[in-house]
Amino acid sequence: MRIPIVAANWKMHKTVPEARAYLERLIGLAGRDPGVEVVVFPSFTALPAAAALLEGVPVGLGAQDAHPEPAGAYTGAVSVAQVADLGVRYVLCGHSERRKLFGEDDALVGRKVRAALEYGLAPILCVGEALEERRAGRAWEAVDRQLDRGLGPVEGDPDGLVIAYEPVWAIGTGVAAQPADAQEMADRIRRWLRERFGAVGDAIRVQYGGSVKPDNAREFLSLPDVDGALVGGASLDPDAFWAIVQSARR
Ligand code: PGA
Repeated sequence: MRIPIVAANWKMHKTVPEARAYLERLIGLAGRDPGVEVVVFPSFTALPAAAALLEGVPVGLGAQDAHPEPAGAYTGAVSVAQVADLGVRYVLCGHSERRKLFGEDDALVGRKVRAALEYGLAPILCVGEALEERRAGRAWEAVDRQLDRGLGPVEGDPDGLVIAYEPVWAIGTGVAAQPADAQEMADRIRRWLRERFGAVGDAIRVQYGGSVKPDNAREFLSLPDVDGALVGGASLDPDAFWAIVQSARR
């Protein structure tokens, strides 16, 4: 049985006081056990405050990115070692905005995944095809390549690994994937994981992400091979995010 994981990716939103206010509201709601793993991904600046507030609360914490080198001359970057030190459990690796806007390639994403695992953190590897790739019937080819390269450097069992399937054209556009397409992709990803990691692959959760909202969340979260959601825009409001979390109850 895979416990669904629903995650809030705040992206570049919220000052520290705003993050505190959000989390206070979320903590109030999270008192009622949803039977779902809930994770928030604030900006780096809000991570220490979030870690303090979430102590003893059943809401996990993640970093939106992390540099694979433990330390060094990388101005502006924050390392996996540094976020691990803050009580973070998850690290997003290869979000499409990092790939597109910051030029991250599959090789760098693979190094991040490996570094996260080395520090005992759980990577959420984001994969997904561009619109041209879907139109050309090459969606799986793109995802297969991202899985191959993103997980290539991993040795041994990838403890805690989660895959987020996020078609690039669905992110922040209000146009979510068709649930049947999300299911098909999640199923192919699962078969890929089984082939690569054996029985361990069965326990790896596959999320859907891309314009998930309170009113469409259940369509995705009830799919047999979708084990949660990675939510951007609709996660910025704690009540809307909580409504999505509730949809993941099984
Ligand atoms: P969205 O973002 O929910 O705003 O489409 C999803 C994501 O970027 O993870």
